[in-house]
Amino acid sequence: MYKELAFNHDDELIDELRDLGYNIDDDSLSDRGFRDLDFADYSSDQSDVVLDVPFIPSDEKIVNAMLDLAEIHSKDVLYDLGCGDGRIVVAAALERNTHGVGIDIDPMRIAEAFEYASYSGVEYLVNFIEGDLLEADFSQATVVTLYLLDLVNIQLRPRMLDELRPGTRIVSHAFNMGDWKADQRQSCGSVNLYKWIVPAKIAGTWEWQTTSNETYRVELKQKYQQLTGLAWINGKPAELTSALLRGSLLELIVKKDTSSPAISFLMRCEATQLVAAEGNQQATPAVKIISN
Ligand SMILES: C[S@@+](CC[C@H](N)C(=O)[O-])C[C@H]1O[C@@H](n2cnc3c(N)ncnc32)[C@H](O)[C@@H]1O
Repeated sequence: MYKELAFNHDDELIDELRDLGYNIDDDSLSDRGFRDLDFADYSSDQSDVVLDVPFIPSDEKIVNAMLDLAEIHSKDVLYDLGCGDGRIVVAAALERNTHGVGIDIDPMRIAEAFEYASYSGVEYLVNFIEGDLLEADFSQATVVTLYLLDLVNIQLRPRMLDELRPGTRIVSHAFNMGDWKADQRQSCGSVNLYKWIVPAKIAGTWEWQTTSNETYRVELKQKYQQLTGLAWINGKPAELTSALLRGSLLELIVKKDTSSPAISFLMRCEATQLVAAEGNQQATPAVKIISN
């Protein structure tokens, strides 16, 4: 389907970065400002366009693997930050009927993306915006795709956590997100793809009643999607054996003591409450009694 488009070997960006001494296997940040680096790429010859990442397009196999990993469907709104010639947004529109927006700072890429969308007959599903991805509004996305660099992903990270709705999926071609560990990693040939699910913010102390009239309390600490914490039942210390967060869905498993059966609560974060999801013994929504 991309026969009209120019392709590059998929590992090219990584090879270029390795040549420049950037170690992608090292999660620590490179001190070198990418804007200072100078190497050949496919980017605009307009000297006034400053790119944080050169234009190296994802190949078709990777594009499809990214869409599969994102589990993208027709109700999604896809944003590709640094969209290049628009191939990810166009592929999602063509194959999954997905609305999409591509953002690129290079006007030449945006012109190509519009042309490609029109050639593919999906212009009614997509839009392309010329702008800086570090400043653009992507809050309406339900899926975000990235083929940038660790350093740029990390710059985007606080905005993605604050501005995207819980449950939004982020898929990155080749590059990681610092200490925000991916929920899923998948290899596609020699390339790693990473997926994160934006977690709801639920740190704090929560309390709720069960159908057997017991009062449960948990104190949760949160680092991205990772939770740790303590539990009490009717004011007495209990065991929080598991606390898992996926988007806005929270599963807590609590035991009165080591010899008691484990009781599982499945809750959905809604505004300021944790509301019972199907099939558990929660009688009231959990309310936050102390914020962390
Ligand atoms: C590696 S290419 C990825 C293209 C496309 N997402 C894909 O996977 O085929 C990175 C793209 O980011 C764009 N870019 C670099 N810095 C940018 C910035 N600050 N704001 C918006 N786009 C940027 C480049 O013009 C380039 O098209």
